[in-house]
Amino acid sequence: MAILITGGTGYIGSHTVVELLNLGTEVVIVDNYYNSKPEVLNRIKEITGIEPTFYEVDILDKEALAEVFNKHRIQSVIHFAGYKAVGESVGKPLMYYKNNIAGTIALLEVMEEAGVKDIVFSSSATVYGLDNPSPLKENMPTMDANSPYGYTKVVIEQMLRDLAHSDEEWSITILRYFNPIGAHQSARIGEDPQGIPNNLMPYITQVAIGKREKLSVFGNDYDTHDGTGVRDYIHVVDLAIGHIRAIEKNTEKRGVKTYNLGTGIGYSVLDLVKAFEEANDITINYEITDRRPGDIDTCYADVTLANEELNWRTEKTLMDMCRDSWNWQQNNPSGYDNLDAVTE
Ligand code: WQD
Repeated sequence: MAILITGGTGYIGSHTVVELLNLGTEVVIVDNYYNSKPEVLNRIKEITGIEPTFYEVDILDKEALAEVFNKHRIQSVIHFAGYKAVGESVGKPLMYYKNNIAGTIALLEVMEEAGVKDIVFSSSATVYGLDNPSPLKENMPTMDANSPYGYTKVVIEQMLRDLAHSDEEWSITILRYFNPIGAHQSARIGEDPQGIPNNLMPYITQVAIGKREKLSVFGNDYDTHDGTGVRDYIHVVDLAIGHIRAIEKNTEKRGVKTYNLGTGIGYSVLDLVKAFEEANDITINYEITDRRPGDIDTCYADVTLANEELNWRTEKTLMDMCRDSWNWQQNNPSGYDNLDAVTE
């Protein structure tokens, strides 16, 4: 029996595929390469010695998706595929609602028709919105996300809860990621943002490699220990292993389970900059600029449920995250492109 990974050539998807293959699990990937490249498959094979089964399929294409279920005995699905840029979603809401929500509906309908009712869904701490206090707990209200992207996660979570309520055959695990950073220790897979990075760590590594002149620290007047935004950074390999625990656990129980996947520790922007400088003996140029609209002061997880029920704990430190992020960027100046370091 295989595990189907939608979005399996993406940042978190590829790291999860590597962990599954290393355990001897049969993996089938579907991806449309919207935010990834075919080179990722070569890197996965390089790391694991296994070439995963891959189909270039858009999850909105139900016929192509059904064909994959016809060709393989799928036991469970880990659903990563989806657009994830908060800022982009504000300007292109229909594109986000269609791809993320209609795409998930198409996947669930194909699963139902194939008799596969076991899914782990990639959600996000962004569903907690602006008003919930950290440490964030899974039972807190999540109806006021602060971007169309965030609302796609809120709506999909609700869809999954309603689906499980309508048909007790479904086993569903919702994983709310905090801030994934870092890369596999091989430095052969990692985060490869297209264009100017939205997220903090890839921006830092591009400053470190000289692709960007300096980091803009979005505000230092937040209600935090040093005035800059506090987040719960989690190593992408710890996050990937959390999916292994979730998929193992998901088959044991019907219904919907929701877990925060974070470290439970908050670090500020300047904490991360300092840790990166110390871990890699590098100076990062930065300047304090205005706040970024929609940002919150503090966001970090209560991870008690995942620790206890998934028997999962993060093992990597902030220094590991900084070292592995830099190791990936140094060895891949232009991500998965084969070009030399390009300046934009
Ligand atoms: C982290 C901190 C910024 C960039 C988002 C999504 C979330 C998930 C992860 C998809 C904040 C500050 C950032 C920069 C900065 N994505 N910052 N200068 O906003 O916490 O979460 O990405 O699932 O859903 O909401 O992550 O890395 O963008 O920002 O000062 O150039 O770094 O203000 O305090 P965020 P981030």
